[in-house]
Amino acid sequence: MNSIESKKSLGLSGEIKVPGDKSISHRALIIGSMVNGKIKIKNLLESEDVIATANALKQLDVKINKVTQNEWEVFGNGIGCLEGSNPLLDMGNSGTGVRLLMGLVAGSDVEATFTGDKSLSKRPMERVIKPLIMNGASIQNENNNTLPIKIKGNRIPLPIKYHSPVASAQVKSAIFLAGLSSLGKTTVIEPSLSRDHTERLLKYLGAEVITNQLPDLSWEIILQGMPELKPLDIRVPSDPSSAAFPIVTAIITPNSEVLVKNVCINKLRIGLYETLIEMGANIKFLNEREIDGENIADISAKSSSLIGTNVPKSRAPSMIDEYPILAVAASIANGVTIMEGVQELRYKETDRIKAMAEGLTSMGIQTQNTEDSLTIYGKGTSSLIEGGVYIHSMLDHRIAMSFLCLGLISKKPIIVNDTDTISSSFPNFFDEMNKIGANLNYI
Ligand code: S3P
Repeated sequence: MNSIESKKSLGLSGEIKVPGDKSISHRALIIGSMVNGKIKIKNLLESEDVIATANALKQLDVKINKVTQNEWEVFGNGIGCLEGSNPLLDMGNSGTGVRLLMGLVAGSDVEATFTGDKSLSKRPMERVIKPLIMNGASIQNENNNTLPIKIKGNRIPLPIKYHSPVASAQVKSAIFLAGLSSLGKTTVIEPSLSRDHTERLLKYLGAEVITNQLPDLSWEIILQGMPELKPLDIRVPSDPSSAAFPIVTAIITPNSEVLVKNVCINKLRIGLYETLIEMGANIKFLNEREIDGENIADISAKSSSLIGTNVPKSRAPSMIDEYPILAVAASIANGVTIMEGVQELRYKETDRIKAMAEGLTSMGIQTQNTEDSLTIYGKGTSSLIEGGVYIHSMLDHRIAMSFLCLGLISKKPIIVNDTDTISSSFPNFFDEMNKIGANLNYI
């Protein structure tokens, strides 16, 4: 149980290496297990969450090897070909891993039991259980739709049309991973578009996926079952959600300028960057290009003065993981920042609305929250941030990193307890941040 102390930095400068995208890394392994043949994955995120997915796939008889640092190979067995006799799959802290793999298992003639850590065991799984039962999976759990969950899939699940009450890429992807083994079309309708990495990767490998906006402004995504998935190599771009930490820190810290290369700028992932630009941040997207179905750019950011803003509900799916670090930026902004339609934050690794509101309030930053909104009254300048508090990570990597970033501009240090969770998404956070001028110390 490590704790990290974060102290005032004189400025961040230079290029920082941000690891591969977590969402795409999970999908590269999972979808890679369904191609016909061997693929290489480059720049895979080697974090605890992603390794848990790789280990679970191995237990389901998929051959996966690490070739060298961040480069892995997967020997796909084709669609619906998992094997194993009810393995116990420990998904650690990973909501994406467990929900996507439940979908994968639902589309194979195999049985598996999923477990996870304390945080994951509290998270709601009904959102995937419900559609997977429609596919024909048998699901057993005794804890009110939380882990542990045992699921028995079908080699040929029913093709379903599912209206998802939430815009969740995990739900959509679980349904599509099961739907790949169906003989017909699987349709997911979501209230607004969630991240589309599953659709992009499937299209890149040769599947047919169509996305339409409906007259009531919701979105319908249709996948044709039983595609032939080609064994193409996958290059994983850097994670915009991890890049957010050095970028926001550079913006709020005087005398700073940082560069992050090869970041995924999929339009369904960059709501934070749009919001920061509206707030007056000096951010530039350079060298935009497309790699293996995803849009990529190098992102540069400099110290900036920020003004408060209203972040509309419609932007939430494209920045759902970035509200904690946006709350940090909002704390130094001039004026009030209101984040609306953020109820989903209550179901993440911890209740992120509560964790941010309590942590910021404890250091004298005024906040307000309702069931689905968070309001921050900005201090107007980084020089008024007091710090001097202990924060518990609540086993949430993004809460831990957000407060460590805030400590870099605080008058008195911030200590974050239980920081091992950071390795869920950004294993080298401590070293990489210190290399560009952060002042983080293990205590
Ligand atoms: C993810 C989807 C999002 C996000 C999570 C990763 C994914 O969750 O918060 O960190 O890779 O599909 P929801 O699908 O629940 O919105």
